[in-house]
Amino acid sequence: MTLDRLVIRRPDDWHVHLRDGAMLKAVLPFTARQFGRAIIMPNLKPPATHAADAAAYRARILAALPEGVRFTPLMTAYLTDGTDAEDLARGFEDGVFTAAKLYPANATTNSAHGVTSLDRIAPVLERMAEIGMPLLIHGEVTEQSVDIFDREAVFIDTILSPLLDRHPTLRVVLEHVTTADAVAFVRAHAASGRIGATITAHHLLINRSHIFQGGIRPHLYCLPIAKRETHRLALVEAATSGEAPFFLGTDTAPHTVTAKEAACGCAGCFTAANALELYAEAFEDAGRLDQLEAFASLNGPRFYGLPPSEERVALERRPTVVPDVVLVSEGDAVLPFRSGETLHWSFAGLV
Ligand code: DOR
Ligand code: ZN
Repeated sequence: MTLDRLVIRRPDDWHVHLRDGAMLKAVLPFTARQFGRAIIMPNLKPPATHAADAAAYRARILAALPEGVRFTPLMTAYLTDGTDAEDLARGFEDGVFTAAKLYPANATTNSAHGVTSLDRIAPVLERMAEIGMPLLIHGEVTEQSVDIFDREAVFIDTILSPLLDRHPTLRVVLEHVTTADAVAFVRAHAASGRIGATITAHHLLINRSHIFQGGIRPHLYCLPIAKRETHRLALVEAATSGEAPFFLGTDTAPHTVTAKEAACGCAGCFTAANALELYAEAFEDAGRLDQLEAFASLNGPRFYGLPPSEERVALERRPTVVPDVVLVSEGDAVLPFRSGETLHWSFAGLV
């Protein structure tokens, strides 16, 4: 029997780039339509490093919400070499920050102010461990001598593993995992309950060959870059396993078409236009639609110590056409992932 309608608790997105200004206004309605809460990335220009920045950014997000939409942005602090432990802890205790984000300096978009060495922020990490504030990690080494396809695995061995040993009670989310190595590492530490991993829809759906299918496809370029098929299969297996550490984080990361289709194009896939439908497609291909709710709506809140949503949403098996483009402002647009293509599932809203 095939399932034609799926009702699940309203999901949350544990990793989102909403940007600011006209881009925020253009992309926010998509995320807020499907997800009840989202962890908002702080890599703005300039980055949101202090609680006051995050509180102001949260107010701009709430002001940009369409009428009548219920959506809670959960804010993060952008860690730098200069982050003050007390300042950060106050932001967490005051309820402004839900977590702090570690970008190794220059690992990805707007990460130039990121952390240059974990030694420098050891007191900050100690304080975070004490107060139970999660550390969200972009897990790639930045040495240009390390092959781009190896940067996550090398990060796990040389940085993440010693970090967990040095801070045995720190709670950590390894963001947007892309390798079988990451899946195995997270599983090996699952019993501690202190490690989680987000998985994007695009990493469940593409491997590295797709980026070069018939020509170079800049809209499929993101960081960490998609890996070979064996890794994609490991991600699908993990996401659809129902296991507690794995949860939904789209890493939807909009850039304008001009910024993507350039000699040096920006990293990021914009999946928010149809995020849930994309995940449903990946879960159905694996024959595991029954596990979508655990991944999308239960495992994340449990990790963050929040209640799962009391709202419910429906997905229906009928075609959805992904928008060709999303207009940002006159002459500027974002191209959604799978732009113009037909997906098998449709988001049918709150029920
Ligand atoms: O592809 C990506 N885009 N990866 C990141 O880590 C950052 C993001 C962005 O902000 O554009
Ligand atoms: Zn991201």
